[in-house]
Amino acid sequence: MKIGLLGFGVVGQGVYDLIASREDMSVVKVLCRKDVSLPGVQVTKDFNDILNDSDIDTVVEAIGGLHPAYEFVKAAIEAGKNVVTANKALVATFYDELIPLAKEKGLCFRCTAAVGGGIGWLSELERARRIQTIEKVGGIMNGTCNYILDSMTRLGFDYTNALKQAQELGYAEADPTTDVEGIDTWHKAILSSNVAFGICLDSATVPVAGISRIQATDVENFKAHGLVCKLISTGMFTKGKVSAYVQPTLVKFGEPESAVPANYNLITFVGSASGRMSFYGQGAGRYPTAYNVVQDCADVLLDKGFYSPCGEKVKAENTDFMRYYVRGEKDSWLEENTAETWGTAIISKPISVEAMHVWLKNHPEAFIAALAE
Ligand SMILES: NC(=O)c1ccc[n+]([C@@H]2O[C@H](COP(=O)([O-])OP(=O)(O)OC[C@H]3O[C@@H](n4cnc5c(N)ncnc54)[C@H](OP(=O)(O)O)[C@@H]3O)[C@@H](O)[C@H]2O)c1
Repeated sequence: MKIGLLGFGVVGQGVYDLIASREDMSVVKVLCRKDVSLPGVQVTKDFNDILNDSDIDTVVEAIGGLHPAYEFVKAAIEAGKNVVTANKALVATFYDELIPLAKEKGLCFRCTAAVGGGIGWLSELERARRIQTIEKVGGIMNGTCNYILDSMTRLGFDYTNALKQAQELGYAEADPTTDVEGIDTWHKAILSSNVAFGICLDSATVPVAGISRIQATDVENFKAHGLVCKLISTGMFTKGKVSAYVQPTLVKFGEPESAVPANYNLITFVGSASGRMSFYGQGAGRYPTAYNVVQDCADVLLDKGFYSPCGEKVKAENTDFMRYYVRGEKDSWLEENTAETWGTAIISKPISVEAMHVWLKNHPEAFIAALAE
C-alpha cells in the first residue's frame, strides 16, 4: 500500500511513525504546510501532488475540520483512492455523500479513530451488527469533558479551574468550545448511530447540551444524592424508531460510567444477542489514535469497505420521557413540570427529551442534566 498522508500534526506524525517500520505499507508523500524533511518521503504543500500520483492508492486524512478536508477526501475518492480518516466532523457531516461515493467506486473508506480514538469501537460495531440487531449505542465519548467532570467530582474543583488544569495537561484545546458544548460528542453519536443502525441520521434532529454551565454547587447537589454527572451520548433503535441525543446525565455511584476517571472513554452497545458490551480506553492521544488509523490501513489491505450500508435519511424522534435537573432559569412551563427542588435547582416531572431541549434553546443560561433511570 502506498499512502499519501494529509497533515503532519498530532495524529499525522503518529501515523507516520507507526508505518515507518512496516513492510506492507509505506507513506510516500506528506501534505504539510511547514518545512519538514522526512527521509525517503516527498513533503509537499500542494494536494494535487498526491491526487495526481497514480502510485498512491490510499489517502490518510489527518488535517481535521470540514474544509478543505472534504474537498480533498472527495477528490481522492473520485480519483480512485481508498480513504482512511480520523475526522468525525467530516464523516458525520458528509456521511450520505462520501460513504455511497466510496461504495460506488468500489473503494474502502475507514474512520475507526474518529470515535473513541484508540478504542476499536466502530470496527467492533461492524462485527457486532453482522449477527444481531444493535438496540442502543452511546456513552462517554469525550475525554476533555470527562476530565473536567471527574476533577469537579473527585477533587472538588470548580469548572474554571478544572478546565484550566485540563488545558495545562493538554487534554483541552485553548478554545474548548467544540468539546465542552458537546459538539465533538454529537458528531461521534451521529456516526455511531449511523453505523450501528445502518441509517443516515438527520443531524438537525439530534439535540445536544454541553457541560460549560455546570457549577461546583451542582456537583455538590449530585454528590448529596449519590449521583455523578457525565456527558453521555445516546442512540436507540426501538420498534423502527430512532432516538439520538447528547446531554449531561446523572448516573448513580456504582454504575460503570460513574467510575470512568480522567480523560478516559467508556462506550457501550446493547445487542439483541450479546446484550451490553462496553469498551474502555484512551479516546485520544497521538499513538492511541494513530494505532487505529494504521489498523484501518491494514483493513484496507484486506479490502474492507465501510462498516455498514449507508441507509436512508432518518429523523430522530426523541419522545423518551425522563426527569431532569435544571438550574439557572425558570418560567411557567418549568414550574408546571417541577416535581421537587434541590437547593436552587429543580427536578422535573418526566418530560420528553425533545421538549427539554427545545426549552433549553430558549433558556441558554440554564444547566440541565438528565437523571438516568
Ligand atoms: N489528536 C487526537 O488525539 C485525535 C483523536 C481522535 C481523532 N482526531 C482527529 O484527527 C484529526 C487530526 O487531529 P490532530 O490532533 O492531529 O490535529 P493537529 O495536531 O492540529 O494536526 C492537523 C495538521 O493538519 C495541518 N493542516 C491543516 N490544514 C491543512 C491544509 N489545508 N494543508 C496542509 N496541512 C494542513 C495542520 O498544519 P498547520 O500546523 O500548518 O496548521 C496540522 O499540522 C482531526 O480530525 C481530529 O478530530 C484526533
